[in-house]
Amino acid sequence: MADIIDGKAIARQLDEKSKAQVDEMLAAGMTRPGLTVILVGDDGASQVYVRRKIKACEKVGINSNEHRLPADTSQEDLLALIDKLNKDPEVHGILCQVPLPDHIDTRLVLRSIAPEKDVDGFHPVNVGRLSTGTGGIVPCTPLGVMILLESVIDDFVGKDAVVIGKSNIVGKPVANLLLDAECTVSVTHIYTKNLPELARKADIIVAAAGAPELVKGEWVKPGAVIIDVGITRIMDEETGKERLVGDVAFDECQHAKAITPVPGGVGPMTIACLLANTVQAAKALQGEGDKTDQYADAPSRTMFTEAASDS
Ligand code: GUN
Repeated sequence: MADIIDGKAIARQLDEKSKAQVDEMLAAGMTRPGLTVILVGDDGASQVYVRRKIKACEKVGINSNEHRLPADTSQEDLLALIDKLNKDPEVHGILCQVPLPDHIDTRLVLRSIAPEKDVDGFHPVNVGRLSTGTGGIVPCTPLGVMILLESVIDDFVGKDAVVIGKSNIVGKPVANLLLDAECTVSVTHIYTKNLPELARKADIIVAAAGAPELVKGEWVKPGAVIIDVGITRIMDEETGKERLVGDVAFDECQHAKAITPVPGGVGPMTIACLLANTVQAAKALQGEGDKTDQYADAPSRTMFTEAASDS
């Protein structure tokens, strides 16, 4: 049987670490980290996500603030709010929930968030830093994927990794992080030829295609490590009830060394990493660390190795 990588437990450990860092900051006379979340419109799923993010802040002692704006908010007003938050010394992290309404240019809005407060890691400056291995704020889900991998892999050097999915939010940043860890990385997508064959050679599979149970048991080499980022609600024909499934046929992959469950794998890590990024941003903004490189201590360079060594 494959080991189950317990995302909930690892997320809890990361939260404890974030909380300890907040306590240390306060003891050193620094300002408590603050996260502001902006939600435009009334998309139901976004409301749930935002509520979870705000609630999670409480657990680790981060101040949180929510701006709920009507769906017809003008782009100009949204940019003016972000500009104000960029200048507010009590705000260390700004997250603008996407999707935004159609009349708003999402890329422009995400670019308007100060890179040092961009706790999503979506700003081109942070994307560029990640892809050049020069720090920056790492997007939450990819950071969570790396922490989970490090909980079961001691040495990444020379490992073959296959990333399924090339999204800007997961596939591409995960590929960059794995490259930084000295893996040989194949980034695959819907037009990839012989995906099962490629996957079968991999020591590490990160499935982030949004395709339920795409990865079959026969795609997986015995002893591989599998991280399943997918989460889709499907109707179970046998029981007639809905259930959540990942991109991996979990039951068929028990010959893997380790695998994340869905739910309870990557999901809990995303919010824990958002909190960790906010704490890190608050420290950097208050001058802790190397001032010539505000991101020298960014989570991408320290957090996941520390988290792994503690577990
Ligand atoms: N919408 C769904 N997930 C996310 C996320 O991680 N960040 C933002 N800003 N919006 C989202």
